[in-house]
Amino acid sequence: MMVCSCNLITDKDIKEVITSLLDEDCWQLIVPGKVYHAMQKRGRCCGCFPNVVDLIVRTTEEYHAARESQGDDVVVFIERLKTFGAEQKTAIIERRQRMAQIA
Ligand code: FES
Repeated sequence: MMVCSCNLITDKDIKEVITSLLDEDCWQLIVPGKVYHAMQKRGRCCGCFPNVVDLIVRTTEEYHAARESQGDDVVVFIERLKTFGAEQKTAIIERRQRMAQIA
């Protein structure tokens, strides 16, 4: 499924990058900018970033479940990711509202 129409990136491409980043350090905080940097791409309109954050959360949960990471560590980490995702979504909505007021 196409996730980023600006860069023609699919969910499969994104999941592969997230998994390779987790293989390097399974406890690093992965954000959309890091994923796009690894693909040598950059956000243009950034409208896909909320979906990329959802993919990061889901892929990270699956990664740790498959490797049977310690439950308490995973819960804290996933909560940090979800909080980050919620903050990003709020920031995008606020930015769009400001742009609508300017236009
Ligand atoms: S849809 Fe991904 S940067 Fe525009």
